[in-house]
Amino acid sequence: MEPSLWGLERHGGRLHLDGHDLTALADAHGTPLHVASARTLRARTRELQRAFHGYPAPVKVHYSYKTNPVAGVLQVLHDAGLGAEVVDGYELWLARQLGVPGEDIVFNGANKSPDELRAALEAQVGLLVVDGLRELERVEALAAELGCRACIGLRICPDVKPRGVPVQAAAGSRRNLYGLDLQGGEVDHAIRQAARSPHLRLRGSMAHIGTGIHDLPAYRAAIDRLLEVQLRMHRAGAEPDVLDVGGGLAARLSRSFRPLELLRYYALGRCPSRVQPGPADLFERYAEVLGDATVQASRRLGLEPPTLLLEPGRALTSDGQLLLLRVGTVKHRHGVGRFVLVDGGAMTVSMMFLVEHHAVFLANRDAPRRGRVDVFGRLPTQLDVLYRGLKLPRPIEGDVLAVMNSGAYFTSTATNFGGPRPGVLMLDGPQATMVRRRETHEDLAAVELVLPQPARRA
Ligand SMILES: Cc1ncc(COP(=O)(O)O)c(C=O)c1O
Repeated sequence: MEPSLWGLERHGGRLHLDGHDLTALADAHGTPLHVASARTLRARTRELQRAFHGYPAPVKVHYSYKTNPVAGVLQVLHDAGLGAEVVDGYELWLARQLGVPGEDIVFNGANKSPDELRAALEAQVGLLVVDGLRELERVEALAAELGCRACIGLRICPDVKPRGVPVQAAAGSRRNLYGLDLQGGEVDHAIRQAARSPHLRLRGSMAHIGTGIHDLPAYRAAIDRLLEVQLRMHRAGAEPDVLDVGGGLAARLSRSFRPLELLRYYALGRCPSRVQPGPADLFERYAEVLGDATVQASRRLGLEPPTLLLEPGRALTSDGQLLLLRVGTVKHRHGVGRFVLVDGGAMTVSMMFLVEHHAVFLANRDAPRRGRVDVFGRLPTQLDVLYRGLKLPRPIEGDVLAVMNSGAYFTSTATNFGGPRPGVLMLDGPQATMVRRRETHEDLAAVELVLPQPARRA
């Protein structure tokens, strides 16, 4: 794939993004460094919003915070008109700090703590998605105690598994734990309880069927089932007005390993094939399937098309950020191959290296791709791998690698196994602003209670 797919240009052999020389950014700010593009983030947001223009009711987009919880990234998305989908107390707090009104927040999660439920009700979130009967009881009791009426949705397990998504990632399959089961009486029980409670306002149903989804008809199957549930809500006297179809749409320019590839990769060291770009009109296709499925099923069931709630993550921000890494050393093992050691791997920078493929370019010079290399992070463990068998121009010490699509699940899956986590630089026209600084040793030590005071305070 060509760098131009990410809006990158080469000048004098060096990659530039939005007019900024990536190598100069790496020199100035150090590596590893995430570089986000406000231009791309806004463009994807607009494309997604526009794709739904033909839908006959409102469509509200809530960005899934866990995909990239960097406040500077979230701020760009909120300024472009998006709400927040949050799954824990911190994300809820962060959304409120960023000025997101409670009504624009969807709160998900299968095991919310009493404190989180209380915080959600106090923030008057627009949709508190209830994941089971026990949670429904807890929310009702808490709403009664606080003297409020909680706006809730019921998470449903539609038992849909999108093609190409491994079972573990197919969150809408019965083999996974999420939501109320359509079999047995769970759903009707929850509907009856919610519809008659003075402390609950039942707003609709929700499902999230997985991640990295290319199989768009799977959404149709899920929507059919959710709307049948909405009909049952109407019959029980509730007035559902929203349908939340979760997230899950694949990113266009990166991809998860397929289950068999994963097996071959780890068992035999065989590198999965490279990423092929998804269709340029992915958002239009997605909107067409979701819109058509919702309108058709609503018509068949005699319902008004509901307000659609979307919770996209990777499809929206994956290609809006890239990661710069510097080659520290290259080892050549005779008869085996070339090991390239960079300054951040699967443990420190992102666990996504273990399960996804990304395009990788040399940022500081242009050269033909010659042979394959194994790329590792700094930790003395094979777990700190980036890629095995990656096709690259032969890297040398000091080279800067640009890893595409670090805008989804990189910052949220980075750990401190291996040291401080990287910072994030936001490009916005001619401006380049650090929106998250690199962690310091003092940041890591701040929670250690046995260290001398100055070390903790520093
Ligand atoms: C409930 C829910 N909504 C939205 C998302 C975002 O998913 P994606 O990044 O695949 O769009 C997730 C991800 O796990 C999720 O669990």
